Amino acid sequence: MKTHVLVTGSNGQLGKAISAFSDTKNSESINFTFTTRTSLDISNQEQVETYFQSNNFQYCINCAAYTAVDKAEEEKEQAFLINATAVKNLAEACDKYGVTLIHISTDFVFDGFKREPYLETDKPNPINVYGTSKLQGERYIQQTLNNYFIIRTSWLYSEFGNNFVKTMLRLGAEKDEISVVNDQIGSPTYAKDLAEVVLEIIKSKNKQFGLYHYCNQGILSWFEFAKAIFSFTKNEIKVKPIPTSGYFTPAKRPLYSVLSSTKMIHNLKLEKKPVLNSLKNCLQNT
Ligand SMILES: NC(=O)c1ccc[n+]([C@@H]2O[C@H](COP(=O)([O-])OP(=O)(O)OC[C@H]3O[C@@H](n4cnc5c(N)ncnc54)[C@H](OP(=O)(O)O)[C@@H]3O)[C@@H](O)[C@H]2O)c1
Repeated sequence: MKTHVLVTGSNGQLGKAISAFSDTKNSESINFTFTTRTSLDISNQEQVETYFQSNNFQYCINCAAYTAVDKAEEEKEQAFLINATAVKNLAEACDKYGVTLIHISTDFVFDGFKREPYLETDKPNPINVYGTSKLQGERYIQQTLNNYFIIRTSWLYSEFGNNFVKTMLRLGAEKDEISVVNDQIGSPTYAKDLAEVVLEIIKSKNKQFGLYHYCNQGILSWFEFAKAIFSFTKNEIKVKPIPTSGYFTPAKRPLYSVLSSTKMIHNLKLEKKPVLNSLKNCLQNT
């Protein structure tokens, strides 16, 4: 019998990456129901309840989120509604109907003061509204149900939607020179690789529930990542390194947000995916 999986927020980067797998052999044992904000608004508790009641899901993958990090500083209520209250709605429905929740969280739950990869056991301390709202979402899940996977990821990019890679490709076509921050360090993660991890959890019927980190393997600054993008695309644009203090954003960013994926890789017996290989794959698909 096929496993019935609800995907929320499927118009986003991760949702689309999962959707791209849904027609492949890789997921023939899974019957997906893809929903968007229009068909299932996760902040509408009644709609969530009705949706779960009238379907027989085994898993819910929550790809829905408020991801506008800078705007969140002004739209605090909206960020908390979608990243926290709505996640509680999903967690309660999952608990009531015996559904395993796979939820995606972020490196922005950390303050960035560490200088080695963050472990799941490290204490979160978000420094902006977005990170605080995502952390509250995690907490609601942990307080509500046992059958959950929370996967924190970082610097997500893909051929879909808006992200750093797409912005660099656009600027590369428009400008001769750009400045990119060189003192924020992290691990860019290809949404397709994260989608594969999520599907592997479902296909393997993994029951080691809990909190996990997953990102691509490699540590870069945004400047180094931009250089790699332009090198692969043979674009000779001049890229100037600048400090964070030279590039104002309304929301503070952690200076170091590398996540250790060891627990996830060990649990699912995954192969490590090097950052630059994944970037090459994405650029080939863009
Ligand atoms: N992007 C990153 O760099 C990054 C880094 C670390 C972690 N993450 C996490 O990874 C996950 C996936 O991120 P992503 O980049 O794929 O996000 P995304 O592209 O911004 O997609 C989020 C989706 O959620 C939908 N959504 C918003 N409010 C909703 C609601 N009330 N009900 C249903 N759907 C709603 C949005 O719909 P609309 O299209 O209608 O707005 C959008 O399609 C998120 O949990 C995010 O926090 C992202």
